[in-house]
Amino acid sequence: MATKQSARTGSPLPGDSNRQSARTGNPLPGLSIEQLLSKESFTRSDIVTLLSVTGDQRIRLFEHSAKIKEAFVGNRVYLRGLIEFSNRCHKNCLYCGIRRDNHFVNRYTLTDEEIVSAACYAAENNYGSLVLQSGELETIGFAKRVEKLLKDIHKATQNKLRITLSCGEQEKDIYRRWFSSGAHRYLLRIESSGKELYEKLHPGDEFHSYKRRLKCLIDLQKIGYQVGTGVMIGLPFQTLENLADDLLFMKKFDIDMIGMGPYLEHEVTPLYALRHTLLPKEERFDLTLKMIAILRIIMKDVNIAATTALQAIDPMGREKAMKIGANVIMPNITPGKYRDDYLLYQNKPCTARMPTTVIHALKPA
Ligand code: 5AD
Ligand code: SF4
Repeated sequence: MATKQSARTGSPLPGDSNRQSARTGNPLPGLSIEQLLSKESFTRSDIVTLLSVTGDQRIRLFEHSAKIKEAFVGNRVYLRGLIEFSNRCHKNCLYCGIRRDNHFVNRYTLTDEEIVSAACYAAENNYGSLVLQSGELETIGFAKRVEKLLKDIHKATQNKLRITLSCGEQEKDIYRRWFSSGAHRYLLRIESSGKELYEKLHPGDEFHSYKRRLKCLIDLQKIGYQVGTGVMIGLPFQTLENLADDLLFMKKFDIDMIGMGPYLEHEVTPLYALRHTLLPKEERFDLTLKMIAILRIIMKDVNIAATTALQAIDPMGREKAMKIGANVIMPNITPGKYRDDYLLYQNKPCTARMPTTVIHALKPA
């Protein structure tokens, strides 16, 4: 895979950089790591170089991002209680375990009472912020339900919680209605900021249009939401240039929050057929840490989530991400009996077998 990808892009993949170091003694042609890290702005090629560093240079990258994190956002960990309130989805993303065509999934929707009670749990446990996440449905019934839920939650928690929605692509008018009902933030991952790669990861129909996804992000910003986005890392076909472009996209869009996690294959998805082309999981993990570190360097005070997918590869994954740049953790507070059914990828942690108390093990970096 590494050889194929390098040949395609000309840029060193993480697996190639040792070889490159041995050849040139330095993967940073003409520039020391200190010179590169102290630059005011970063080009695509600077970012590709930083994504390729190994050994002492990699350690310097992480030390630098940790220092920037401390200076700009401090050591505070922001907790957002995550409620995965429905796994029904009308989309068919080629990588996702709860895609429409996976008929092995036990589809569920929490009742209003269960959602409001989980929200009250969050408020009582001083979460301050809640994320309501679901698969994507664009029906009038769904839109109305979310609107009502927002009002019910605010009432039941005396407006103590800030609410983030993550319910996919919707018409601008729906986003507006939800905003007026008390949603403050919206998460919509671009998945990959490059149109070409995006189209390789999604079926080529009107439900999965790159143009519409971009429009949704723009609509959300115009309405006044704090907008979160993100990408998966280590996808089939993905190059270091794609990842550098993803970071530049987030900066250009002036995104408020970012969630980036390693891509993890799921058996019952079309993309599983390409598993032999993937980087080893440890490299996907390391690349994700580098993406977080570089993002912290180029967007100093942005909110960066330490995602659950990191923890699926390394039990200390989220803590490692917090140490080098992330500052937000989203503990899953979905009622336990539903958690096994929100399996976007295999070996997802914090399912019914793991209680929410795992969060108590998480300490500020
Ligand atoms: N591996 C990692 N992340 C995934 N997501 C969906 N499927 C996978 C997978 N197989 C992520 C997408 C989506 C978010 C809810 O979960 O980025 O936006
Ligand atoms: Fe649905 Fe989101 Fe999964 Fe795509 S990634 S299939 S929109 S839940």
